[in-house]
Parts: sequence; C-alpha cells; structure tokens
Amino acid sequence: MTFNETNLDLETIIRDEVNKYLNRDVSQLPATVQAPKELTQKYEKMEVPKVGRDIYEVLSELNNEVLTYLYRPNHKRAFSFIPGPASRLSWLGDILTTANNIHASNFKNATLPISIERNLINYLAEKIGYEVKPSGGVFVSGGSMANLTAVVTARDAKVTLDKLTQTTVYLTSQTHHSGRKALHVAGFPTDNIRIIDHNEDFTMNVTHLKETIEEDVKNGFIPALVISTAGTTNTGAVDDFDEIADICEEHNIWQHVDGAYGASHLLSTKGKALFKGIERSDSVTWDAHKLLFQTYSCAMIIVKDKYNLINSYGEKAEYLDDITSDDDVIDPEMLGIELTRPARAVKLWLTLQVVGEDEFRRRIDYGQELAHFTENYVTSLENFEIISKPSLAILSFRYYNDSFTDEQNDHLNNIAAKKLADSGYAVAYTTTLNNKKVFRLCTIHPETTEDDIKETIDRLRLYILEEAENL
Ligand SMILES: Cc1ncc(COP(=O)(O)O)c(C=O)c1O
Repeated sequence: MTFNETNLDLETIIRDEVNKYLNRDVSQLPATVQAPKELTQKYEKMEVPKVGRDIYEVLSELNNEVLTYLYRPNHKRAFSFIPGPASRLSWLGDILTTANNIHASNFKNATLPISIERNLINYLAEKIGYEVKPSGGVFVSGGSMANLTAVVTARDAKVTLDKLTQTTVYLTSQTHHSGRKALHVAGFPTDNIRIIDHNEDFTMNVTHLKETIEEDVKNGFIPALVISTAGTTNTGAVDDFDEIADICEEHNIWQHVDGAYGASHLLSTKGKALFKGIERSDSVTWDAHKLLFQTYSCAMIIVKDKYNLINSYGEKAEYLDDITSDDDVIDPEMLGIELTRPARAVKLWLTLQVVGEDEFRRRIDYGQELAHFTENYVTSLENFEIISKPSLAILSFRYYNDSFTDEQNDHLNNIAAKKLADSGYAVAYTTTLNNKKVFRLCTIHPETTEDDIKETIDRLRLYILEEAENL
C-alpha cells in the first residue's frame, strides 16, 4: 500500500504533542543527562525503512529517547556556556513561521516578515547608537555566523584579496573562538593574527594593541581588523570601544564588536553606559538566542553602513530577477551568505510585541543582580575565592585550600563540576583563567531564584569536601 499522509490524524497528533510540551516544566527535568551507549548505537545504526513505520512508535522513540537525553539550555539551573533561556513566545513564533515554511530570501517572497526584520535591525542599531541610515544588517543562525559575515565584510572593505598575506588582524586570547574560525574561512593567514595581551580584568590591553599595530605598519603590514568584545564568554569582560576606535580611526582599521552575548545588555537599565563608544565600531554581532530569550537559531549582524554588506554579498542570479527588489538593499539574500533562510525575526518580533521592552529590561537587570548575589554568597564561604567579578551576569570563582597543591585544587573544582552535572541538578562547568580551573556561572535565566544559586554552590562545596577526604 502506498503511504498517504492524509490517512494520519496529524491534527490530533500535533495538538497532543504540543500539549505535552506545554504541560511540562523544563526545570523539573535534569539540567543535563547523557544518553546511554546502547541508544547512541541504536540511532547511529538505525536504517531508513523501505516501508514507513507506525507514527506512534516513532514518536515514542523521539519523546522517550531522542529528546530525553539532552543538555537543557533553558533550564533555570543551566549556568554554563551562555544559557538559552528561551521564552515560550519565541517557541510559538517558531511554530507559526515554520508551519508557513517562509522563504525569507527576498522582499517579494516574504514582504511583511522582511519588513519586520528591517524594523528590528533598525531598532537594535539605534540601541547601539548607529544612524538608522545607512546602518543595516541581517538575521543569521548564530554568533559564529554573524562573526563570519562581519569578518568577510571587513576584509572586503579594507583590502583586496591579493594583499591578504600582508594584512594583519587583532584579537585577544579571550575573543570567542568563532572569531578565529571566521578569520581562517576568510583566508587570513594564521601568522597574521596578532594576539593582543589582556588586562587583569580580561579586557583588551589597548596600549599593547597600539604598539603592535604601529610595529606592523613599520614592517609593511596592512592592519585591517580589530575584533573587540562586548561581554567575553569566559568572564563577561567589555573592551574599551572608544580607545580602540581612536586607534582604528587613525589607521583605517575596521572594528568589529562581538556582542553575541553582551549586546543584549544594551536593553538593561545600565544600557549604553556599559558599552561606551560602541557606536564608533563598524559592526556588531548580536545573538537573540542568548539574552533576547529566543529559541535557536536567531542572531544578527548589524553594520554601521549596510553598503559594505552589499559589497561582499550582493550577487545576482538571473532566475531570481522576477523577485529581486529594485532597491537592492531590501533583499536579505543580498546582505549575507544565505539564500533560502527562515524568517528568524518574526519570533523575536512576536516576543517583543507581547512582552514589551520594560519587561525585557527587568529580566536582563535581574540576571545582573543574581550574579552579584552569587558573588556575595561565594565570598561568605571558607576556602572559596572570586576569580572574576560579575560582569554582565557572568562571574567565576574557585575552591582553594593552601594545604593542597595547585593540581589538587584544580582536580577538586573539576570533579565537583562533573558530579554536579552527573546529578542533573544544575550545570556549572569550569573554565580556565590564569591557568586555574574555576567555576563559571552565567546567571541570566529570569526564573532562577537565590535559593537555586545557594543550593548549586552548596552542592559543589559538598562534592569538593567529599573528594578532599580521598586526597
Ligand atoms: C562572545 C561570543 N561570540 C560568539 C559566540 C558564538 O555564538 P553561536 O554559538 O551563536 O554561534 C558565543 C557563544 O557563546 C559568544 O559567547
């Protein structure tokens, strides 16, 4: 018998499946749980059947196995990486946009979704401090893709391809590694990537930047790009955009700000004061799937002058002539790498329209306050020390006991983070700062309570004390 989709009661199935998700509280599930080996093998080896299987059987595998063993970035005790505390409104926006399978390449194919995209890019560009005209941008899948889009744009704005071996770029060890990936894809030789020192607070050392650039100019190199960061992943450090802009303007260098995590703090009460001089940059990466509470994947690259995007990506194809806008800055496919792309802006628009800017501000402020609460709690504990103070709701700390060696102290911090994740209660993995293993917390979930923070740290402490007995 041939398969016929209309024989399935998909209406009931979709309603039931959505209901199941609506009726659960993600934070009652483990914050992370690893799939058992047998299941990994089952799904790696599963064959595509010649004749389709019963939908309820497949859905049961999907719900009880595939979607069960996951790290949950929107769990209220997921403190690692940059969490993804996505609003259910974003999820609703996702359902509605994917249900319509929107082809958001060109204005004529998805006029109003693209009007919404342009509207939000203008709104966020204004928050940065760019002039609405000629600034512009495009929604992309994430911060890595936004950084790549920016690096290629900067390259094309500043040098010709035959000069790449003489072209130098500048970042620090704290720059997100997607910056280095982007430079590699864009063809910058590894030897021409200058790693600038960072200060004690993990921000770029601007004196070292200036000296390095001057030395490069003296040696015949062409400095083209500085990647600064608004909220580094490790510590939330915010670079001095003003001072970097002074140097960039003097040497005709593009300043790209990676604000994948931090830029959303422009909507907080402290807002622009946190990012003095960001408006003097040439481009900003901004992830909505981090602190604008969106589901994956939703981010933006915003540039001061959108004609730079057209310069890099404004290719034409004859089979698209009928839908290509006369005003060639209107079609998103002319502003970035993707042609076929989902209407990512729609879910952010839905969330912002329903929730409003004031509530976004309250939520982002709350994350900053929780980081300060965490700092105070950690400071009250014996043998715990703060390693990086709260910056944009990220802080790091560690257990340190001088009766143990450095390796033993590292081991204790490491093992506690692993045990906590294994327990499923919370995720608070370590990072390495100044060669020390430290716990790193990013406290941005609006539903996290002070008790959640206390209990997470108490459990880490308990695991450490248990393990210390074996040393
Ligand atoms: C500062 C920074 N830049 C870029 C990225 C990469 O973003 P994505 O994971 O959305 O590609 C991250 C991810 O955490 C980040 O924190």
